[in-house]
Amino acid sequence: MKQLAKPTKTSCFLFPRMKLHCPFVTNHNIWKRNKLLNDSLYMYRRRYYFLQASTSGKVRQHVNPLTPYFQKPITIHRGWNKQVYRDATKPLLIDLGSGKGWFCLRYAEAHPDWNVLGLEIREVLVQRALNWVQQRQLTNLHYLFCNINVSLERILENTVDCKVLRVAIQFPDPHFKRRHQKRRLVTDELVQTLYKYLPSEGQVFVQTDVEQVYYAAIEKFQNNNFLMLPCDSRPWTNIPTEREICCENKARTIYRAIFCKKSNAA
Ligand SMILES: C[S@@+](CC[C@H](N)C(=O)[O-])C[C@H]1O[C@@H](n2cnc3c(N)ncnc32)[C@H](O)[C@@H]1O
Repeated sequence: MKQLAKPTKTSCFLFPRMKLHCPFVTNHNIWKRNKLLNDSLYMYRRRYYFLQASTSGKVRQHVNPLTPYFQKPITIHRGWNKQVYRDATKPLLIDLGSGKGWFCLRYAEAHPDWNVLGLEIREVLVQRALNWVQQRQLTNLHYLFCNINVSLERILENTVDCKVLRVAIQFPDPHFKRRHQKRRLVTDELVQTLYKYLPSEGQVFVQTDVEQVYYAAIEKFQNNNFLMLPCDSRPWTNIPTEREICCENKARTIYRAIFCKKSNAA
């Protein structure tokens, strides 16, 4: 008859100082359990980064823009806009955090005299939106996958022969928790970059349904030489964003503001 493994006195996995007499908890079992746990943690982490980065599968609701994966600046060459737009000299509207990209799509279709650029951190959404551009053969619309807080300056400095006249920041992720607020899109650095590259007649439109985010954005713009202009409704077009439609359906208050450079407004 096969001999049963001799029960050993061994340390517990969770509380190593505790000595166990259980016949089933052998050193080998503990090693196996540790390995399984490590393997599943590894797989979990891999899946986490994969979903943030992948071009297929489930679309994550939020990503953390501060993770190392999103710190790599975009690779872009000078004059990229001459290659993607048929007429690069048209004024440019940039949508920061374009989400699914519906707003850009509809804006580009309704305003052929403008070029439109959507910037988004979720690559899956960018790939899908770029497919729409191809299918509809739009020559005034493009999307870039990037972390705006890392790559906006690089994109703007390489944009040639055109004026960025409109920048939209629509329903940026609120990141309510205090310890998550550093993930917010509107930072001093972002506003300073916009100030540097916008022409004097350029405008930035901000809308959100989160009062706290609205006032935080106002503070950032006003501290960095922008002047706030009153704004009750959508300023440039009647096209809502996907998040805006959601808020309107739930009758949520939407806070809106337009900012222009102080030198211009004075
Ligand atoms: C709440 S959604 C709003 C989407 C769209 N603007 C709308 O109004 O429906 C905010 C979007 O900004 C994107 N986003 C957040 N932080 C970003 C960053 N640092 N760089 C690029 N996109 C970012 C998110 O992935 C998300 O799609």
